[in-house]
Amino acid sequence: MKNNILIGISGGIAAYKMPGLVRLFVKNGYNVKVVLTDNARLFVTRETIEVLSGNDVYSDELSDRDIIDAIHIELSKWADVILIAPATFNTIGKIASGIADNLLTSVVAASDHKKIVLSPSMNVNMWDNPILKENLKKLNNLGINEINPGKGYLACGDTGEGRLPDIEIIFAHVKRHLEKDNWFMGKKYIVTAGGTEEDIDPVRVISNKSSGKMGIEIAKQLFFKGADVLVIKGRTDVSVPKYINYIEAKNTKSMLNSMEKNISENTRIVMAAAVSDFVVKNKAKKKFHKDELKTIELKDNIDIIKSVSRKYAVPIIGFALENGIDMTKAKRKLKEKKLNAIIVNDVSAIGSENSKIRILKDSGDITEEISGTKEKVAEVIVSELRNI
Ligand SMILES: Cc1cc2nc3c(=O)[nH]c(=O)nc-3n(C[C@H](O)[C@H](O)[C@H](O)COP(=O)(O)O)c2cc1C
Repeated sequence: MKNNILIGISGGIAAYKMPGLVRLFVKNGYNVKVVLTDNARLFVTRETIEVLSGNDVYSDELSDRDIIDAIHIELSKWADVILIAPATFNTIGKIASGIADNLLTSVVAASDHKKIVLSPSMNVNMWDNPILKENLKKLNNLGINEINPGKGYLACGDTGEGRLPDIEIIFAHVKRHLEKDNWFMGKKYIVTAGGTEEDIDPVRVISNKSSGKMGIEIAKQLFFKGADVLVIKGRTDVSVPKYINYIEAKNTKSMLNSMEKNISENTRIVMAAAVSDFVVKNKAKKKFHKDELKTIELKDNIDIIKSVSRKYAVPIIGFALENGIDMTKAKRKLKEKKLNAIIVNDVSAIGSENSKIRILKDSGDITEEISGTKEKVAEVIVSELRNI
């Protein structure tokens, strides 16, 4: 059973985006109830939200039943998380001052701070107002955190910080709030994804069919668990979600450079990228004539894992793509490369929606075969990465 999400919509212009967010939560199996402030009702209708959430929408027009049920207490107990989006300057100020003069702020007053997530959205001058900053600081100290607003063109015509983030970003932050795991919080992960491209000449490359899906799904699951995640990606068929930072690294050398620039004491590395085994020795500055192509010579590419493990004492989780799930080869690779764990997958996974894997840890533990969509497999992989 998925969690109960109470969305409080206050009277910011970005309230018009909220039907989309309600729909996104419902589509992903969450139970959604919504409280509208009187000012929010200027920007979004309760009927739209009622249809999309499949539930009654609450406002300050209370029915007799709402009063008998002490609806502010009932909603507060029902919610696993209370998301206020958009959170106006006014509503943030009221919460910070302990004012509970409408249904939304009364629900907040009756709720554990740990349940509350704010998504502020307002004009840039309101966002820069020191009173707002003081209020947010006070709320942060009490355990109420906010999702940073985005920068850009604002509804009022100004440009700057204060935009409501894309609904996909808000959704991911709420999921992270619900699923975070203390063990992952504060840990930094670098996840490589996709296939590298090694130049043959200015128009041709050596590459592979990696889609990057597995690496990106692992990065998403790590984000949901509360880790800081950086994706370093080669060529991928899928894009990195907006809530995850990433760096493009076309070839193996630039992938290694980007990794080295971002490794710190607290980093863990998941090497899900399909790195080319070879580079071209006689790479051409001008396009090869097709007959000349037959003369290309290959040499071994740099070994990212070896280079990193030689210099940095950070945990590294590798991947092995084999014809069949060959645990003997995996054991050899784990030892040779001094990996902390190795995820063995079958070649059928390349470019596919699904995957079949087993995980071998340096403790000698081997998981059963895990198969399914890359999203589901990534979820299991990340739960197995706990304590590595
Ligand atoms: C057209 C219009 C757009 C507004 N947009 C915002 C906004 O994006 N963010 C904000 O904090 N306040 C905004 N306000 C001001 C709030 O509506 C006002 O502070 C109101 O008291 C908020 O009430 P509530 O927090 O109870 O919903 C806007 C006002 C108007 C008239």
